[in-house]
This record gives sequence, C-alpha cells and structure tokens, in this order.
Amino acid sequence: MTIAPTPNSFRTGPDERGRFGIFGGRFVAETLMPLILDLETAYAEAKADPSFQAEMDGYLTHYVGRPSPLYFAERLTTYLRERSAPGHGAKVYFKRDELNHTGSHKVNNVLGQIMLARRMGKPRIIAETGAGQHGVATATLCARFGLKCVVYMGAVDVARQAPNVFRMKMLGAEVIPVQSGTKTLKDAMNEALRDWVTNVSDTFYCIGTVAGPHPYPGMVRDFQSIIGRETREQMLAVEGRLPDSLVACIGGGSNAMGLFHPLLDDREVEMYGVEAAGHGVSSGLHAASLTGGRPGVLHGNRTYLLQDADGQIADAHSISAGLDYPGIGPEHAWLHELGRVTYLSATDQEALEAFKLCSMLEGIIPALEPAHALAKVMEIAPTKPSDHLLVVNLCGRGDKDIPQVAEILGTQL
Ligand SMILES: Cc1ncc(COP(=O)(O)O)c(C=O)c1O
Repeated sequence: MTIAPTPNSFRTGPDERGRFGIFGGRFVAETLMPLILDLETAYAEAKADPSFQAEMDGYLTHYVGRPSPLYFAERLTTYLRERSAPGHGAKVYFKRDELNHTGSHKVNNVLGQIMLARRMGKPRIIAETGAGQHGVATATLCARFGLKCVVYMGAVDVARQAPNVFRMKMLGAEVIPVQSGTKTLKDAMNEALRDWVTNVSDTFYCIGTVAGPHPYPGMVRDFQSIIGRETREQMLAVEGRLPDSLVACIGGGSNAMGLFHPLLDDREVEMYGVEAAGHGVSSGLHAASLTGGRPGVLHGNRTYLLQDADGQIADAHSISAGLDYPGIGPEHAWLHELGRVTYLSATDQEALEAFKLCSMLEGIIPALEPAHALAKVMEIAPTKPSDHLLVVNLCGRGDKDIPQVAEILGTQL
C-alpha cells in the first residue's frame, strides 16, 4: 500500500516533528517532554560539532575495532549455487559487525549515546535489553567512562541469555529482571521509561534500537549508519560497484536501518528486512509487526504493532530474544508503505537451520538474530544471477545463544 507519493529522497526523515510520513512522532507523558526536548537540542548541537564526530571516530577505530570487514562467504555462496538453476546464485558477502567489541552492532549506537550523555552531564545511564547485547554494550561503555549503569531486562530473557547477564554484572551494571507482561523486551522498555520519568535530573535513557519517541529513531539510525557507509565504500573497493541487494534482520530495526540508510537513494539497490516469524505468522506466535500487525502507538511513537482486536499490544514470540518485540522502528513502517524496502519473515526453525549452516560452512557462529536474515538469504540468493552482489549484515555473534541452542538441538549434533 502506498500512502504518499515517492519522495525525491528516501533519506529526508524525520521532519521537524519527528515524523516519517505518518509514523514516528513523540507520544510521551508531559513530565518527559522537557527531557526529550533537551536531548533533541543536545543531539542537534553534537551533530553539528566536528569535535564530537572526531572523538567518536577515535573510539570507533581504537575501542570498537571498526571498520568491520566485508567478507566474501565463499563456501556458503558455492553451497547455494549448487542448489540454484545454471547461472544463478548470488555472490554472498557478510558485513561482519559481530567482530565489534562486545559482539554486535549495538555498540555503534551506545558509543554515540554515551558520548552525548557525557556532553549533557548525566552521570546515570539506564537501558532496556532483550538479547542482552545492548545491555552489554551499555555496561561496557559505562565501565569505560565511569558512569553508573542500570539495565532493565525481561525475566524470560534473563533466563535465556544468561551469559550476557553475567557479562553485564561483571562490567559493574545493575541488572533488574522485569516481571511484568511477557517478561521480555517490551516490558523492559516500559520499566526503563518509568525509571526515566522518576529520575529526570541525572539520568540518560540509552535506547537500543530505532524506536522510542523522537529524536531516538533518527539519532540511533545516524549512529548505526556507519555500517552502510562502510559497506558502500568496501564494496566499491572490492567489486568496483555498489551491492545489488542488502539483507538484515529486524527487532526494532537498528542494524537494518544502519545498513540501508546510506544506500536508500541508490534506487537500484534492493533491500530486504527480515522479521521473526516465530512458529509461523499464521500461528499467531510471532514477532513480525509489519507482516502481521497494524499501525498504533507504543513507546512514544506511531508505527506498526502487533495488536488484538481492541488495540491492546499482543504478545510477541521469537526464539531470538533480540527480535522478540511487538513493534518496529517508525522509519521502517514508512519505507514499507513507500515500497522502498521489502519486508520478509523467517521462522524459528528456519533461523536454526541457517544458524547451523553458517557455523558449518563458514566457521562463523552467528547470533540467532542475524540467523533470521541468513535464512532468507538462502531463499533470495538462488533466485538471483551469479553476478548479483548480496550483502547480509552479520550483526552479532552466537556466543550468547550457545546454551539456548544446545538445549534445543540437544543430541541432534
Ligand atoms: C545481535 C543482534 N542483532 C539484532 C538485534 C535486533 O535489534 P535491531 O533490530 O535494533 O538491530 C539484536 C537485539 O538485541 C541483537 O542483539
């Protein structure tokens, strides 16, 4: 469904009210409004200050370990070509953001927000986390800069991502298990917002994805766009041209926005976002907000959400804690309605198969989140000619998922 004429540029949002078309905005309690406005001003000033970017670049290089490699997944490519029609089977590259310090793309954004918090003189940082990767990245940078860190995490996620809970504590963070609702990411974000309203003077809320009220969706996207900028440069250097398609998994959508945004106006580049289909979209047990949801308001912005008939937020389900969220960032909702990005979904089972295949063929154990993107690469690549260049964002490594996957696969290995 197209709700607006195709814009001259897909990179113009958000507008001054924080909207991407009809999506986004800031639907927050009155008490939060001054904080949100302060943040908006501070971010605008930082963005315009070359010393802010220069300082960030230093940490991105020497602390995070960027640029992350663009790696030709040769054995996966061969495997898929053997299962394609003659002359078919795209050349698959991995953007290796799992090699960043702390093991995922989350650190790109956290670095930016922590530097902003320091600029704003906020000594206490709060965060929500699902898979624990955003929590670990936040705890890490708080340790690095000597800031107090409190992480809200659903009790279900505390159990299924135990290694990351230990890491956060090791780094000096306080981890608060959230017992309300489904005890997952949505509930953790509710609690973090509650904390923020009650601790307005000294606290900075470090949101982990391109969701929340304006200015978060655009700000987090900007911090993650390093992924797409590097991909563009690296592909031009290696292949002499831009990639033909980009594939990324979507929880709230930050790794996908980071990969897509710098290339949105290169209209020949196809883009695929992959949501979590859980047990299958028709089963009702899934986290595919665009595929199975409709517009509504949650966590301060208007976007596609899983809802029941009364508009109450429905429970999401995914094997992957990082994708287990009933919403999606508002910019994705806009790009979906404009038709610029194609949104697909992968089931728990498909992600597990891709998890195994990537480990066996490439010697890279991916996180369960990008395993969803890999599952769709296995469907998309064989439909493309063999000179088609496909990049999938390998946005996290699988260490955190080993206990969970070992329990599921058990003796199958
Ligand atoms: C490794 C990894 N990938 C992806 C995600 C999903 O987040 P986003 O859609 O914001 O990239 C998470 C969230 O926890 C994650 O840990």
